Amino acid sequence: MTNGSEEDRTGHEYDHWAGESGLAGKGLRFLFSPRGIRLLHPNVSGVIRALGLSPEHRVLDIGCGMSAFLLELDRRLHFRTSPEGIDASPGMIELGRRYLQETSATTRIDIRVAKATEVPFPDSSFDVAVCSYVIKYMGDDSLARAFAEARRVLVPGGKLALWEFGPSLMPFFTSLSTKLLKAKISTVILRTEGHVADLMQSAGFVRVSLLGLGPHLIIPWLPRVALVGVKP
Ligand SMILES: C[S@@+](CC[C@H](N)C(=O)[O-])C[C@H]1O[C@@H](n2cnc3c(N)ncnc32)[C@H](O)[C@@H]1O
Repeated sequence: MTNGSEEDRTGHEYDHWAGESGLAGKGLRFLFSPRGIRLLHPNVSGVIRALGLSPEHRVLDIGCGMSAFLLELDRRLHFRTSPEGIDASPGMIELGRRYLQETSATTRIDIRVAKATEVPFPDSSFDVAVCSYVIKYMGDDSLARAFAEARRVLVPGGKLALWEFGPSLMPFFTSLSTKLLKAKISTVILRTEGHVADLMQSAGFVRVSLLGLGPHLIIPWLPRVALVGVKP
């Protein structure tokens, strides 16, 4: 399977999940909505502080889902330049556009369908790229390409910040959680901080370090891998 089809498949699987009428669909639409943001991202202030985010920054969200995280960042910072979001799932982007309309924020945030390995922006377009709960859906080859793309679209000195579930110290919890996550999405890979940091460094990021975001409320028995790297 090529990188492209793996990402396309994840996008389609998210479309399907987002469109489900049962509990799983409702849960997803709540969790990734602006109302669910507190459960999924309990420490938005911590992200802003750790990245030194300011209204002048041009921000890209890779795998933005319904854009709830961007909305929350923009609500707090009032970016001067519209933040941008990309997501492989047209269904998630559609839901996100509806949320943006409801919050009258359409002119401030632009989200579009695109894959992490093919970011539709010119070189050096952003100061900061964030990528939250996305990397587990990519194999190492796709992820390496995604990191190279993130590096390309960042300015020198720009930062890539990501957070994701990592493997538990107890293999039983890791395999149970992977099975649960795979109920909806076929590719799920939980990586250690060291593994993700190696891939970021291989893609040319320097000063790769931990982002101290604290524990999370969703799947709390899995550690959170949270890293930031700088484009030299
Ligand atoms: C768990 S959701 C997280 C959404 C958002 N980042 C947040 O934290 O609210 C994962 C999102 O990543 C998207 N995604 C997964 N793989 C992707 C890829 N290779 N390129 C772009 N988006 C991707 C999915 O479609 C889904 O909307």
